[in-house]
Parts: sequence; C-alpha cells; structure tokens
Amino acid sequence: MPRIAYVNGRYVPHGKAAVHIEDRGYQFADGVYEVTCIHRGEFVDGDGHMTRLTRSLKELQIAWPISPRALDIVMRELVRRNRVSDGIIYLQITRGVASRDHAFPDASKSSLVLTTKHVPPFDIKSARKGIHVVTTPDIRWKRCDIKSVSLLPNILGKQVAKVAGAYEAWMVDDAGRVTEGTSTNAWIVTAKKELITHQVDRAILNGITRIAVLRLAAEEGIKFVERTFTVAEARRAREAFLTSTTSFVKPVVRLDGKPIANGRAGPLTRKLMDYYADYIERPANKGAA
Ligand code: PDD
Repeated sequence: MPRIAYVNGRYVPHGKAAVHIEDRGYQFADGVYEVTCIHRGEFVDGDGHMTRLTRSLKELQIAWPISPRALDIVMRELVRRNRVSDGIIYLQITRGVASRDHAFPDASKSSLVLTTKHVPPFDIKSARKGIHVVTTPDIRWKRCDIKSVSLLPNILGKQVAKVAGAYEAWMVDDAGRVTEGTSTNAWIVTAKKELITHQVDRAILNGITRIAVLRLAAEEGIKFVERTFTVAEARRAREAFLTSTTSFVKPVVRLDGKPIANGRAGPLTRKLMDYYADYIERPANKGAA
C-alpha cells in the first residue's frame, strides 16, 4: 500500500509530495508543527495538540491554511488512507510561498503538509531499561514556547547525544539550569522525593505529554513542583525521566556517563509510566481518527 501525504489540499504519494522552493518554511523555517500520537487508530490528546497549534500560529501571526474543523477531517482521512493503527501524524504549517523577503509577505497562503508514520506503541517493558542522557548548552532563541520548525539548535544537540551513544541531550542554560531535552521535557525526583519539571515559560515547550503526566500526578496525589533544576541537582537526583509524544515516559538512568542513583528506573518513574500507559487507553483522551 503506498504511503500517502497531504499537501495543500491534495492527497499525494509520499515520494512525490513537494512544496515550492520559495516556501517560507524551506527558506526561513517560518512555520510551526505538531506531532500527535495515534494509538489504536485514535489521536492521543488531540485537543491539546490543537490548542498548542492555535497558540503557535497566533504567536507567529500565521493564518490557518484551512479551518480547524476542516483540518481535523483531513487528519482523520490521512490516518484512514494510510491505515495507521499505532504511529504518529506530523503536521506542518508555514507562512506559505512568496518571493524571498524577510518581512511577512502582503499576501501569501499558509502551506499545510501532513504525513503519518507507523510506530510501535508504548512498550513499557523495554522502556523500563532506561536511557542515557548527556548535557549540552542551550543555544536556542528566547521563544522556545512556540513549536517552530526552526530546530537547528535541537538537531545539533541531538547529534551530540547520538555521537555520545545517548538517547537524548538535556539543554543547559548559562546559569547551569536544565531547560529541556532537544525533543523532550526533562524531569527529576529529588532526594526529598519531590517531582520536579521546568515551569511553563518561554524557555521550554510545554509538552502535551508533560501536561498529561502532571495531571496524572495530581490525580494520584503525587506532589510536584514546577521549577528549574540545575545539572548538579540532576546528578544527585533519586530518579530522572523524560517525556514526549514519541518517547512517552522514559527513565533516564545515566547522565553524562554517570549513573543516576543506582542506575535503574526509579519507583515513581515506573508508576508514572504505568499511569501514562493507562492514560493513553482512556477514551476521553482520544479523538477518533
Ligand atoms: N517533540 N520539548 C521539545 C523541544 C520538543 O520538541 C518536544 C516534542 C517536547 C515534548 O512535547 P510533547 O509532549 O507535546 O511531544 C518538548 C516532538 C515529539 C518532535 O519534535 O518530534
């Protein structure tokens, strides 16, 4: 079955899908994106992703290419055409095609591109083994709250991780504080058993998985604090983990080559992994795709 992409109003074979060379996404990274998990053919936290997309577009003054309602229909149709049961849908909206000039064009139509990918569902058992993280300076701009396709610092950071044989790089600001991973949010559990993740501000992307995990923690009576933490605190943490749409909840067992606590997934992390696995199954969190 051929893979189908959606480009500006048309369903096209993935290999033939293309946008114009003067698309501002291509020339300026002038666009935003969302990655939504598909589980058993349904979107996980579809509303949350739509809310964040709305905000990203507004912050960058990019117009909706089609109405949110029409977008929802197109997304479901693409999932159907690609017969995705478990996987992701990637959505990208740019300011559209215009003769190259930094300022916004007077008239341009936003471009919309959608692709899907089959990805195995959350495998808790293998995830429990944990992953390695390295640290790297956070060299990004001051609006990391916008889910912009401008990801150069993130890909450079991820490459640092890859070369080091790690899964992810945690980005560290000039004051030695961990902001987030290159494509994930960062969490620790302190010696006092305090669950900590960076507060919502312009230094991080407010992950949809982050929001879900905080909600689950609240539901289960687990205390958490949204504040910054330093690399030094992370090194002496009892537990650490990361979250994202594609990584779900993954224990971090080594930081810069040294084990975190005993180098195994901690009890609170394991609990949150279980809660999140259940959460994905809840009908209320899914929009039928
Ligand atoms: N990444 N922080 C950054 C910088 C991210 O790029 C992401 C998501 C997250 C986690 O957000 P969420 O829980 O909504 O996935 C945090 C996506 C998955 C990506 O770029 O592929």
